[in-house]
Amino acid sequence: MRKIVIAGNWKMYKTQKESSEFLQGFMPQLEKTPANREVVLCVPFTDLSVMSTSLHGSRIQLGAQNVHWEDNGAYTGEISGGMLTELGIRYVIIGHSERRQYFGETDETVNQRLKAAQRHGLIPILCVGETKQQRDKGETESIISNQLAKDLVEVDEQNLVIAYEPIWAIGTGDTCESTEANRVIGLIRSQLKVADVPIQYGGSVKSNNIDEIMAQPEIDGALVGGASLEADSFGRIVNYH
Ligand code: G3P
Repeated sequence: MRKIVIAGNWKMYKTQKESSEFLQGFMPQLEKTPANREVVLCVPFTDLSVMSTSLHGSRIQLGAQNVHWEDNGAYTGEISGGMLTELGIRYVIIGHSERRQYFGETDETVNQRLKAAQRHGLIPILCVGETKQQRDKGETESIISNQLAKDLVEVDEQNLVIAYEPIWAIGTGDTCESTEANRVIGLIRSQLKVADVPIQYGGSVKSNNIDEIMAQPEIDGALVGGASLEADSFGRIVNYH
């Protein structure tokens, strides 16, 4: 049985005050959520400390949105794995397309970050996906296969979540057809050594398409951006049928 992981990626949204307001609305909705669904909130670094205190003893797991590959050092603006685990953080997103696109993240740095996260006992959520142009040229499979081959060198697949996030579907409302997402996720799985790695779909997941997405046999969860920012809408997503 593969684990189901529904994660919100808040990106650069929500102050500490706003994160507390979110939790007030969101926590009651978890009463209906089946116990076998892992619910994760990947929040800005500045929210982690206060949320870790508020969520102590709750079923929500906290995640960060990046981690550096060194344990400490002169790396202005970076955060290490040890700084995260001390706060009780369980997950960390690595290789999101926004970091690859705007912050010079490469497959090599993604690989280093993945290994550092695991060294500290964090579970990485590795993001892979193709651009619209690459898809139109029929390169989806080769792009993703290449990302996986480079990103996963010496990475422990037993402690890993992968998110398939087609870049053209992120924040556009243009969700990937669920059957197509299922097909690509099946291809990703065929390239892994460990069969039960949870593989999520991400890209314009909303409360009105989550049922269809989660009905697909290869899809083990979702990485949700915009629709995770509002307690009611994320509540409906974690409580999909
Ligand atoms: O990591 C989640 C993400 O990139 C998808 O964002 O807003 O399309 O759900 P969104």
